[in-house]
Amino acid sequence: WGKTGHRVTGHIAQNHLTGKAKRALKDLLDGHSLAYVSTFADEIKADRSYSKFFAWHFVNYPLDLRYEDSDKSEHGDLITAIEECTRIVKNKNNKREDRVFYLKMLVHLIGDLHQPMHASRAEDKGGNSIQVQWFGEGSNLHRVWDKNLIESYGMTYTELATELDHLTGKERKKVQEGTIYDWVQESHEICANIYDSAKTGDKLGYQYGYKYNKVLFQQLQRGGLRLAKVLNELFE
Ligand code: ADE
Ligand code: ZN
Ligand code: ZN
Repeated sequence: WGKTGHRVTGHIAQNHLTGKAKRALKDLLDGHSLAYVSTFADEIKADRSYSKFFAWHFVNYPLDLRYEDSDKSEHGDLITAIEECTRIVKNKNNKREDRVFYLKMLVHLIGDLHQPMHASRAEDKGGNSIQVQWFGEGSNLHRVWDKNLIESYGMTYTELATELDHLTGKERKKVQEGTIYDWVQESHEICANIYDSAKTGDKLGYQYGYKYNKVLFQQLQRGGLRLAKVLNELFE
């Protein structure tokens, strides 16, 4: 996601933390919110010394396979990255500075896991090389999902988060079920559908937004509630 998608995810998660997780996060993040730190992993991309983390933002494998059955990238991927972040943050013997760094990465990566074009295929770089128009302006299928769709609402991240955070306790529990392998499979299946929905040169606008607004909002809502679950378990 772009900034707004990550902040919506962080803002929703913030409302569903246990007391223990809240205290641990307050300490490690120096009082900053999850929404605030959620974009850190993109900010460090400008610094070449962090280039090894580029491959951590996505995972590509054939659309008809599950992650577990696919060949893995030698550079790591979104799934191995989430596992590594979890491991480092969990271990209190690690340096505080490292635990903070990987915690901020983790907050971001759970967001990306729910952007369908981040659980994608390699041929077109998760839709980055599929050029389309968005309301008459140049874009690509990846960017449509990172930000064009979200920004078309003209709402702030707090407004969007409030709009999406309306589930009952029982409904939230249901969304929080499963593992990162289940969650990446959901994103991957949505991604396959998205590839069928548009081809190079298509002019996308109102119709496309209307077709996908439920899917978009569902993925943001899932990302937020599942981030809360991951953090609650991490600091149990
Ligand atoms: N580069 C290659 N694949 C990508 C993907 N799925 N998302 C973002 N950038 C990528
Ligand atoms: Zn992206
Ligand atoms: Zn990212």
